[in-house]
Amino acid sequence: MASYNPMNLCDRRVLVTGASSGIGRACAVCAARLGASLILTGRRLDALEETRTMLEGDGARHLVFEGDLSDSDFVQALPRQILEAAGPLDGFVHAAGIGPAMPISVVAENLIEASLKVNYKAFLLLMKAFSGKAFVNRGFSSVAVSSVSAEIGWAGGSVYAGSKGALSAAVRALAIELAPKGMRVNAVCPGYVKTPFFDRVAGAGLDGSEGVARLVAQQPLGLGEPDQVASAVCFLLSEAASLITGVNLPVDGGFLAK
Ligand SMILES: NC(=O)c1ccc[n+]([C@@H]2O[C@H](COP(=O)([O-])OP(=O)(O)OC[C@H]3O[C@@H](n4cnc5c(N)ncnc54)[C@H](OP(=O)(O)O)[C@@H]3O)[C@@H](O)[C@H]2O)c1
Repeated sequence: MASYNPMNLCDRRVLVTGASSGIGRACAVCAARLGASLILTGRRLDALEETRTMLEGDGARHLVFEGDLSDSDFVQALPRQILEAAGPLDGFVHAAGIGPAMPISVVAENLIEASLKVNYKAFLLLMKAFSGKAFVNRGFSSVAVSSVSAEIGWAGGSVYAGSKGALSAAVRALAIELAPKGMRVNAVCPGYVKTPFFDRVAGAGLDGSEGVARLVAQQPLGLGEPDQVASAVCFLLSEAASLITGVNLPVDGGFLAK
């Protein structure tokens, strides 16, 4: 009997921001295993090329666009570059993100701007382009990588949590607005996940491995792996989630359930 897989992404073209590392890289790997062709973007060309070597299928099937998402010229040019090089998109994963953690008393204005540009504004500008028919196919699905920080407060998190709260709110609004076009817009909200991002936050703000263990203990299922977030993202990209839009899905090992 032929196997039925509603998470199949065969013949889907998917853009992943933040594809050079961590969760974005894992999303690209997972989507390629499910049959998708990938468009990878990030600032570091060498790391993007490394991601490309990890993808299933002919490497030439997957494209790389190096650029900085805080540069709105790059962001606004990207949809047309993709269209011309590959054709319309079926999916979009916004995994790029920066996560400053510090007391409000030392927050610099440019850090607020940088977080909003990468975590929130780039997503909106790309979604603006993708709301136009030329750039996407019917059934287009986008998934933003938000955070449990959009839902809870923690000392030092005002800049990061604010940008993720804006992202999660925009996802709900866009889901309503774009549903008549047959487009779905969702987010995942990871808890603690073992990536370079987590290592930076843990390294900067915690007192050694005991501090990290205390942090991770807040998450009943323990520290997550990037591929555990990626499988939830690919589910939301796929037909298996065809009736799901506007959700901010916790992928947090039970963190928010407590
Ligand atoms: N790890 C966690 O515990 C955790 C928890 C909740 C939410 N998240 C979210 O998950 C997402 C992925 O994070 P991660 O943990 O996988 O971290 P990561 O390994 O540090 O990856 C971050 C990605 O963002 C890209 N990026 C950062 N600034 C950029 C810019 N100006 N322009 C273009 N790309 C940029 C980086 O690419 P380049 O350096 O190549 O530009 C990199 O690919 C983020 O949105 C983060 O907020 C992570």
